[in-house]
Amino acid sequence: MAEEKILRLGVLVSGRGSNLQAIIDSVESGGLRAKIAVAVSNKAGAPALERCRKHGVESVFLDPKAYPDKGRYDRALIDLLNAKSADLVCLAGYMRVLGKEFIQAFRGRVVNIHPSLLPAFPGLDAQRQALEHGVRISGCTVHFVEEEVDGGPIILQSAVPVYPADDVETLSQRILEQEHRVYPEAIRLIAEDRLTLSGRKVIIRND
Ligand code: GRF
Repeated sequence: MAEEKILRLGVLVSGRGSNLQAIIDSVESGGLRAKIAVAVSNKAGAPALERCRKHGVESVFLDPKAYPDKGRYDRALIDLLNAKSADLVCLAGYMRVLGKEFIQAFRGRVVNIHPSLLPAFPGLDAQRQALEHGVRISGCTVHFVEEEVDGGPIILQSAVPVYPADDVETLSQRILEQEHRVYPEAIRLIAEDRLTLSGRKVIIRND
């Protein structure tokens, strides 16, 4: 019998890397049958890179300054991910907007986690936006990445309450706990080939 193919992940990071850590932990515990083929950071010295070293995950710092423009940088990223045979690209606090060419190269194979209940509060500082808007409920969203920033089909969401005494930090922390639960879960659904798209709706097949 042919060996079951294991999903190879390319994880893009820029900073702290706590979502990357949640993915590493799920892979290590066996909850997520996948392999992190490579983690790529656009920031030297990102704490995420140290997490990789600790867990024996291959990591690369790809320096934007080494490329003449964004297009050339994205192309280097595509080549690197292809060289590592990445099946799925997971954005985990990656602070650069991916260009059209990248999205096309990995169409339907890029996912992101965002700290709001999309389509509310896309873009930067989602938790601050939610607090300033006065919502009573916020949360996080795992979605496929398309050209429109934070606009692709939604895979999973998790809601949290917003309390009157919250500030950006307390709300972010409450949301982050959910991020660490739903991101590996969404990747697991992909690894188990349980997602299909119907228009912009993601259908989850329950076994
Ligand atoms: C998370 O809040 C994530 O939703 C957003 O950026 C943050 C990254 O945090 N896209 P970390 O680097 O995974 O700790």
